[in-house]
Amino acid sequence: MARRGNIIAIPSLGCLDRTAGRVGHQLTQALREAISKGILKPGERLPSTRALANSLQLARGTVIEAFHQLHAEGYLEARARGGTIVANVNADSDLVTRAQAFIGPAPIGPVLPENVARLAAVARTLRPQGATPFAIAHPAGAVAPDDKWRRLGNRVRALRVAAPSGYIDPKGLPDLRIAIADYVRKARGVKCEPGQVVITAGTQQGLFLAATVLLSDGDAVWAEDPAYPGIVAVLGNFNVQASRIPVDAQGIDVQDGLVRCPKARVAFVTPSHQYPLGMPMSMARRTALLSWARQNNAWIVEDDYDSELRYAGHPFPSLQGLDPTRVVYLGTMSKVLFSSMRIGYAIVPVPLVDAFAGARALIDRHSPTADQYVLAQYMREGYFEAHIRRIRGAYAERRAALISAIERELPSWAALQPSDQGMHLVLWLPVGLDDVKLAEQAHKAGLVVRPISPMYQDAPARFGLMLGFGGFSVAELQAAAVRLRGVLETSVDANRKPKLSKPPRMQTAR
Ligand SMILES: Cc1ncc(COP(=O)(O)O)c(C=O)c1O
Repeated sequence: MARRGNIIAIPSLGCLDRTAGRVGHQLTQALREAISKGILKPGERLPSTRALANSLQLARGTVIEAFHQLHAEGYLEARARGGTIVANVNADSDLVTRAQAFIGPAPIGPVLPENVARLAAVARTLRPQGATPFAIAHPAGAVAPDDKWRRLGNRVRALRVAAPSGYIDPKGLPDLRIAIADYVRKARGVKCEPGQVVITAGTQQGLFLAATVLLSDGDAVWAEDPAYPGIVAVLGNFNVQASRIPVDAQGIDVQDGLVRCPKARVAFVTPSHQYPLGMPMSMARRTALLSWARQNNAWIVEDDYDSELRYAGHPFPSLQGLDPTRVVYLGTMSKVLFSSMRIGYAIVPVPLVDAFAGARALIDRHSPTADQYVLAQYMREGYFEAHIRRIRGAYAERRAALISAIERELPSWAALQPSDQGMHLVLWLPVGLDDVKLAEQAHKAGLVVRPISPMYQDAPARFGLMLGFGGFSVAELQAAAVRLRGVLETSVDANRKPKLSKPPRMQTAR
């Protein structure tokens, strides 16, 4: 057993995911597996529960419980003079029998409902990433909301008016709806009145509400290919036929959509900054998409998740501004403020407003009121726009640092997708290099990268990694780029010279 000081070096212990919950269970499982696979050998001594708890930054009680369980199952033994050693048992037969005797006969469980496996898979897909480079959207330091947010929050929450105890309108707090309408009109070219603003618990909920309101059983729908996994998961929850329409350098390929599925009822798109590839939808495509929607009495759902963060020139105006009668516009505070706030907004064509309110009331009535008051005030007093200006500068600096670190550190066969917006970059890998495996290896090296190929469905998948830079200092990003180089180098067969696949060209939306 390899040791660092008094700490056992079992790779899987480095992968305990505190955000996934049941960390004690994960620890028990990791130790059990290490013993079964012979990584920990019979007779080897384990560190004390205190030392292991310290090294893994877990509560000592969690480690003690894991040890108790493994004692009971026969994997561990107490030493006469104190301490714990790995038991000398045959992992395949003896242990299984002893574990079974402890657990009792396998119960015959209930047959699980059809939705269970699908929804559990959604939970795995949308599992939050830890605050480790290159996770996306972890505002910290210079990009976190400043002291004004905290002080204003304390002040506003202390006022009686900001702490009502009853239900409010599912569409949200009137002051916040006014502030948001003012903001999106000015910043995003959205055409709306405050009455069309529905406060959501973030864009993920906005997508769910839009699907609830706009879709009926059996309807056909367009989603981009590749697409944000959150919209794919939402559509999987409804009894609809989702056609995945390929994205090229200009955004969703409307002509292709017309061939595949002309009669779709709704198109879900990310026009400002295609997720995950990063290009904006060209003006020609915007026009084509809108005219398809008009001719087919279809709707467009515009997910405008990070459009504020554009580094060259002004953000592109919204698609909604070109036809407010056909487009449901979704915005979020997750990228510009912080995602745990769970506040976003839908700007909804007038005839749909009440239905959105009804769908929201069915889910959870409305968003908590206290933070709506704080946010309304933050926006009204001009702090919000000042915050966006400030973080745009900080993100631009981090982004530039990551680009130069990648250009300096990474092999020339790994190429960055040109882009000038958002909180992540796309790093293309050569054909044949499996981005999913690479992401697992990166995880073991203490990095979080999101593989791109699983986000494709029909279009030929391209292999790449999403690298979030928003929540990390320049020094952290530089160090992480060096670590990523190590991961890439060990993944590539030294005899094979990978060939660079050309990144798609960028288009402008003007
Ligand atoms: C493209 C896209 N849409 C929607 C969301 C969901 O955002 P929210 O936190 O507002 O639910 C995200 C989050 O990362 C996203 O990337």
